[in-house]
Amino acid sequence: MTDIAVFVDSRGGNTKKVADTIAAELGVAAGDPAAMLPADAKVVFLGSGVYGGKPGKAMTAFIASGDFSGLKVALFATSGGAAGADKMLGTMADALKEKGATVIGNFHCRGKYLFTNRGHPGPEDLENARKFAREMRANS
Ligand SMILES: Cc1cc2nc3c(=O)[nH]c(=O)nc-3n(C[C@H](O)[C@H](O)[C@H](O)COP(=O)(O)O)c2cc1C
Repeated sequence: MTDIAVFVDSRGGNTKKVADTIAAELGVAAGDPAAMLPADAKVVFLGSGVYGGKPGKAMTAFIASGDFSGLKVALFATSGGAAGADKMLGTMADALKEKGATVIGNFHCRGKYLFTNRGHPGPEDLENARKFAREMRANS
């Protein structure tokens, strides 16, 4: 069993690409936030697209209802712009700290949105996501 879990809330598939890349690098599969936190999880990666400055509803509910005490959490996002991701990642980190988690880092890249960010996340974004996954594993 692995002690790493990856959950993602992705409406359009951009953040799912990043989640699948992170999960593959760590030898696990990315799951839907409706699932239970695995009992043996020690490090949890949580990712979402940014929607009106917030994570998706399923991710928000997952954080509100889960028991994150003692867990290390790494956050990731895709968004139209960096400011939206910063805001959302900060909101997620605050909520998780209140739930007892230690936030060990975060990652963001652009995701295509309407006519902007075409080609993102692209190969370079996904390589950065792999690097992030390795760094978070090494930090944990
Ligand atoms: C309904 C909606 C609202 C969005 N709101 C924001 C926002 O507030 N800030 C931002 O930077 N990007 C925003 N975006 C862009 C998305 O965050 C971006 O396309 C992201 O990659 C979507 O991830 P997904 O494909 O995993 O759903 C929005 C996109 C949609 C569809």
